[in-house]
Amino acid sequence: MSSEHKCFYLVQPGGRLQGQIRVPGDKSISHRSIMLGSLAEGITEITGFLEGEDALATLASFRAMGVQIDGPKEGKVTVHGVGMHGLKAAEKEVYLGNSGTSIRLLSGLLAGQKFATTLTGDKSLSGRPMRRVTDPLVQMGAHIDSQEGKPPLIIKAGNKLKGITYKLPMASAQVKSCLLLAGLYAEGKTTVIEPAPTRDHTERMLVGMGYKVDIQGDTVTVEGGGKLTATSIDVPADISSATFFMVGAAISEGSDITLTHVGINPTRVGVINILRLMGADISLSNESITGGEPVADIRIRYAPLKGIDIPVDQVPLAIDEFPALFIAAACAEGKTVLTGAEELRVKESDRIQAMADGLQILDVDAESTTDGIVIYGGPIGSGEVESHGDHRIAMSFAIAGLQAGGTIQINDCANVATSFPNFVDLANEVGLILEQIDG
Ligand code: S3P
Repeated sequence: MSSEHKCFYLVQPGGRLQGQIRVPGDKSISHRSIMLGSLAEGITEITGFLEGEDALATLASFRAMGVQIDGPKEGKVTVHGVGMHGLKAAEKEVYLGNSGTSIRLLSGLLAGQKFATTLTGDKSLSGRPMRRVTDPLVQMGAHIDSQEGKPPLIIKAGNKLKGITYKLPMASAQVKSCLLLAGLYAEGKTTVIEPAPTRDHTERMLVGMGYKVDIQGDTVTVEGGGKLTATSIDVPADISSATFFMVGAAISEGSDITLTHVGINPTRVGVINILRLMGADISLSNESITGGEPVADIRIRYAPLKGIDIPVDQVPLAIDEFPALFIAAACAEGKTVLTGAEELRVKESDRIQAMADGLQILDVDAESTTDGIVIYGGPIGSGEVESHGDHRIAMSFAIAGLQAGGTIQINDCANVATSFPNFVDLANEVGLILEQIDG
């Protein structure tokens, strides 16, 4: 289904979550496996690849730049790497759909190529801020045109990049990764200093492919001119997708669910830390390391939740999980306060406003603030809410059905396919009563 296609969800009230499931592959790691696999020398075999629209947009863009990529078939992808200088100009502009990760990481990677590329996206992506990547890339010597800081991005050919030291103005793994990828093509060292730790999948995969990455506390440095060696990559299940079921089980009495082989990279586990602070019963088992990334089975059983002040240091570690965590807060006893999360306003939608509006429609006492939200736990009602075409808003309100007083209709849900194409099937398999209506 195309993400531009309108569809809506109807979720019936009640139920509980039970069983053992594996959610689809990690979106961040899937993107990076295609990007770095394409630039590597040799053949990269990927398993567990996310066959969602965002990761597929990245895959299609590298095919368009001349990389032979076989699959995906049941999560298996084979990338025939072309080496650091083997990409070719795409015949036309490269369309990246809804995917902020694709456009921001690609802008860095492409700034160092001998050919020009135009990167475009859907309505949501075309409204998202790109100066955060174009400003530092220009400092490195890139020439990039944008539409007042928004896509399409036109990346000019033959930039001579020079390494810089750049202090990130916001905690952003996309900006960090963009600059590290540009740094692979720059003369000298590129150093990125983070205001707070963000997901480090790029760094881990670079190291896994034999590239030297120097990490000292909040500072990451790469030096241009190296090469990548192909490897096999096992993509763990996405903790951001597992989150919907973790929250679902945490809020509905009698729930007991296990999510298998989930990535638990320390830069991604804010959701576990926050739910535990709220009183959730979460246990990890079968912990191991696969391809440089820690994984575990996550079991979560119902336990009553209480409202908390969410620690600010957890915000970047749970940045994609807040829409679902707001549902947990709505079901908790007392008040939950989030601050320091202004970045949520520039995601696939303004996630603070979208969630506050939807929660209010469902009779939850929720008030947005400039950099967060205040939510008072209480009964969830019923009604019709807007996802604004944002996959994570849609799935969060679907999970709210478990504690709702009546049916919830969630509009504009097609973009769930960007990150979690089999969400409706898996949700019904474990106990949600959820129907997708294609309009
Ligand atoms: C991502 C980084 C985060 C996250 C996004 C994926 C990545 O974005 O929200 O879903 O793969 O690097 P920001 O860098 O904008 O925080």
